[in-house]
Amino acid sequence: MGDLLLERTLAIIKPDAVKRHLTGEILRQIENTGFTLRGLKMLHLTRVQAEHFYEVHKARPFFGSLCQYMSSGPVVVAMLEGERAIERWRELMGATDPAKAAAGTLRKQFGTDIEQNAVHGSDGPETAARELGFFFSGLELAG
Ligand code: RTP
Ligand code: MG
Repeated sequence: MGDLLLERTLAIIKPDAVKRHLTGEILRQIENTGFTLRGLKMLHLTRVQAEHFYEVHKARPFFGSLCQYMSSGPVVVAMLEGERAIERWRELMGATDPAKAAAGTLRKQFGTDIEQNAVHGSDGPETAARELGFFFSGLELAG
């Protein structure tokens, strides 16, 4: 048996999915897949907060539109914990473009287009640490 790699990652249920009342269904699939929810909150990002969160994408052509979208309504952010959680959460989300996402993935089921793709996930250990720290306090992260 390989070593256990217990990780934490950040999940976001994006504004389009929250608006369409998909929060409960997405959380259900997260729990059914074996993740443990270690933190959960709803908030409405300002445009400036969205720009800070997506700083790494600021040179991309879609940056302005992405920040507009992510601040267009409330999001639900969750701290997920589990074995290889970072990679496994990205597998459950599926490809960025819902049209290219595998059957059964959240983006295939619930994504509208390459931008309004229902969910976000950290893409590596350093990103997960930064993104969890963006939304959760030291107190919440210490559990
Ligand atoms: P995420 O960060 O949301 O988990 O998604 P990702 O890693 O699969 O995709 P990334 O390349 O990090 O892009 C971040 C988000 O920007 C929007 N996007 N729009 N119009 C476009 O071509 C385009 N490409 C990306 C999506 O909302 C994507 O999730
Ligand atoms: Mg990304």
